[in-house]
Amino acid sequence: LSNRQVIDGLLAQFQNTPGGLLPLLHAVQDTLGFIPPESVDHIADGFNRSRAEVHGVITYYHHFRMSPPGRHLIQVCRGEACQACGSEALLAEMEGALGCKSHDTSADGNYTLEAAYCLGLCSVSPAVQVDDRLIGRANVDRVREVLNHMEG
Ligand code: FES
Repeated sequence: LSNRQVIDGLLAQFQNTPGGLLPLLHAVQDTLGFIPPESVDHIADGFNRSRAEVHGVITYYHHFRMSPPGRHLIQVCRGEACQACGSEALLAEMEGALGCKSHDTSADGNYTLEAAYCLGLCSVSPAVQVDDRLIGRANVDRVREVLNHMEG
């Protein structure tokens, strides 16, 4: 299926639901990994909104991205419990280790780094999620280990 076909299918599902825009955007990102910039007009038409409105919603929520993610998605928790255990410093270290800023993808396309807000591992903070793998008491070395293991 092309991106356009995927979005058409999801629009059919959500466009007549009150408040359907946000769930639609989540569904597009969950399915395609990102919200293609060229789809914004089409999505806006589907909801009788302006392009600027839809673009505003996408950029307001940091969760959404408009370019394809890297091969691995690394989420560093910035929730309260994790902040108390040094997650801000960890996020900064991860930026250095992966070569990309938060909410960005490394130049080699391998890693996308995102902040998260509670990964459900508060008792073993700071927490990091690498793709679908959760890591408690995380540090850069443990994240590296998991990535090396995944890359085999
Ligand atoms: Fe980080 Fe809950 S606040 S896992």
